[in-house]
Amino acid sequence: MELTLRPWAMRDANELRPLLDDPEVRTWTRALAPRDWIRSQAVEGRHGFAVVRDGALAGHVALKMPRPFEWEIGYWIAAHARRQGLASWAVDEATRWGFAEFAMSEVALIHNVDNLGSCGVARRCGYLLAEELPPSAGYPLPGHRHVRTLA
Ligand SMILES: CC(C)(COP(=O)(O)OP(=O)(O)OC[C@H]1O[C@@H](n2cnc3c(N)ncnc32)[C@H](O)[C@@H]1OP(=O)(O)O)[C@@H](O)C(=O)NCCC(=O)NCCS
Repeated sequence: MELTLRPWAMRDANELRPLLDDPEVRTWTRALAPRDWIRSQAVEGRHGFAVVRDGALAGHVALKMPRPFEWEIGYWIAAHARRQGLASWAVDEATRWGFAEFAMSEVALIHNVDNLGSCGVARRCGYLLAEELPPSAGYPLPGHRHVRTLA
């Protein structure tokens, strides 16, 4: 199995369409047409990458800076590729890339308490639970804020 991260490209639009239509993915990403979604991944303060397995799109990971100097990681994996370690691999790769590339001392990973998969990804990638968050806009349930610091 060959796994790579690479920037999104317009040629990905057709293959991306059914992945964006997955209701679990839709919950956590902006409802945009594939080409607009791809454009939205390469804007200031956001570095989005396609997760590619053996040449096929399998997911997405993005390092973003929602507020100045505050980094956060986001991700989703295609339904057919879940529970196979892909999110853990992609989040770890993107985190290490960010530490090497930017003056970044910590990255946050935030998820709803019922998202056990995300809690598992955080555990496997060295994102320690930093605080429990009350419900807020975009996060209807209480949440977990995990943090990984530069080793
Ligand atoms: C959450 C998500 C990214 C996990 O991706 P994944 O590739 O399946 O995760 P991994 O295979 O790397 O699993 C990491 C750990 O979480 C566990 N896990 C994954 N999905 C799980 C689930 N649904 N329930 C319980 N545990 C789960 C795995 O068993 C693994 O634990 P382990 O180290 O003890 O074996 C994926 O389910 C997804 O894309 N969901 C929809 C979008 C989403 O929720 N994005 C995140 C928003 S915060």
